[in-house]
Amino acid sequence: MLDQKTIEIIKSTVPVLEKHGETITTTFYKLMFGNHPELLNIFNHANQKQGRQQKALAGTVYAAAMYIDNLEAILPVVKQIAHKHRSLGIKPEHYPIVGKHLLMAIKEVLGDAATDEIIDAWAQAYNVIADAFISVEAEMYDEATSQQGGWSGFRNFVVDRKVVESDVITSFYLKPEDQRDIASFNPGQYISIKLEIAGEKFTHIRQYSLSDAPGKEYYRISVKKESGTANPDGMVSNYLHDHVNEGDILKVSAPAGDFILDTNKTTPVVLLSGGVGLTPMMSMLKTVVEVQPERKVTFVHAASNSNVHALRSEVEELTALDYVNSYVFYDSPTEEDRLNKRFDVEGYITREWLKDHVSFEESEFYFCGPVPFMKSINRSLKELGVNESRIHFEFFGPMGNLEE
Ligand SMILES: Cc1cc2nc3c(=O)[nH]c(=O)nc-3n(C[C@H](O)[C@H](O)[C@H](O)COP(=O)(O)OP(=O)(O)OC[C@H]3O[C@@H](n4cnc5c(N)ncnc54)[C@H](O)[C@@H]3O)c2cc1C
Ligand code: HEM
Repeated sequence: MLDQKTIEIIKSTVPVLEKHGETITTTFYKLMFGNHPELLNIFNHANQKQGRQQKALAGTVYAAAMYIDNLEAILPVVKQIAHKHRSLGIKPEHYPIVGKHLLMAIKEVLGDAATDEIIDAWAQAYNVIADAFISVEAEMYDEATSQQGGWSGFRNFVVDRKVVESDVITSFYLKPEDQRDIASFNPGQYISIKLEIAGEKFTHIRQYSLSDAPGKEYYRISVKKESGTANPDGMVSNYLHDHVNEGDILKVSAPAGDFILDTNKTTPVVLLSGGVGLTPMMSMLKTVVEVQPERKVTFVHAASNSNVHALRSEVEELTALDYVNSYVFYDSPTEEDRLNKRFDVEGYITREWLKDHVSFEESEFYFCGPVPFMKSINRSLKELGVNESRIHFEFFGPMGNLEE
């Protein structure tokens, strides 16, 4: 346990570190990757270039430091990050490396202001925070390995089927190469895929939500090809689309994540998705239909138009049931979409629309999509008075802040 003086030093220096937050973490990554280039096998290089991971790590270290004498209070956040760490294969031996370089960066950026007393206090604080992560992650590793069909690390899966779902989204049906059982999962969870690409110095790991209901002999992921913008094409999604075919092997870690449908609840559920954010929603929709057939569910999907609208027929089959409502929003419908009435609403999902079409007083809300989509849905739900405990969402990248 930390003594009172150390706790006071930490809490009083959090604002100073926050002020230099991104400079410290940028320096930290530079130092760490300089000394430990092998860690580039685990970290996402595109996130590094865009500074997204910097923000996530800095924010969490400072938030945790503010709660250093009561880490229980931020346990849900620790768990959420720990799911991702476990899925990526982060191990206890990685923590001292991060700690050492974080302290080196604090010293370098703060200069003389970083007295020995301050550095010593932060070294102690980091160890307390790291221990909290390590113990939560140890439980998760145990669970992932010991469950029926479970495993540790990355396991070889064969691409059994590759199915084009739209101009930009393709599904991959994955079966274990060893033909043994696979772990079940909660609808909404994701797996990590680790790619070794010929000519690439490092491996690349990305998360993909499972887009089918649990209980099948395969995992299905549905991947959007990230290309066609001014930025470099996405590394993993393009490789999967262009170079991974039926019969190929992918390395997969066991399902993870705390964005999950609570099937103990029986109140109505509203699933809102934008673009490829529909993948966890599909798993949830199919699960409700399979295991809670009496539960009212509303599935709202927003896409640009039918060219990029994936898994449409799968949703339509389910919406033939009377307790399932489905609405399709297109913001740029094609002429054909208009002629064939392929969508319900033109434009974006608005607060007014939600107010008129979903029972917001009691429903559980789950959503996923591009960040502006998520911010807009979150704001609408808050304005409609939906309590935070009924609002659940997933970021398809480093977690961010929807209130900003
Ligand atoms: C929990 C979770 C679940 C997910 N589920 C799904 C899913 O079901 N389906 C799905 O398709 N995706 C999903 N994702 C997203 C997925 O993990 C990948 O992030 C996505 O496929 C892009 O990876 P990539 O390697 O193709 O792109 P990356 O190489 O990681 O690039 C990411 C983005 O950054 C841009 N970029 C790259 N380099 C630079 C640079 N130097 N400067 C500026 N911009 C740059 C790229 O154009 C691209 O848009 C999920 C993510 C998470 C965290
Ligand atoms: C107490 C220490 C740590 C904190 C507070 C922390 C915090 C975070 C946060 C907030 C995220 C983003 C989570 C999300 O987007 O869902 C993250 C992701 C990640 N963390 Fe950690 N982390 C710590 C230690 C480590 C260690 C020791 C490693 C390995 C060396 C590591 C590697 C990663 C990687 C690879 C990601 C994925 C994101 C990416 O590649 O861009 N972390 N961590």
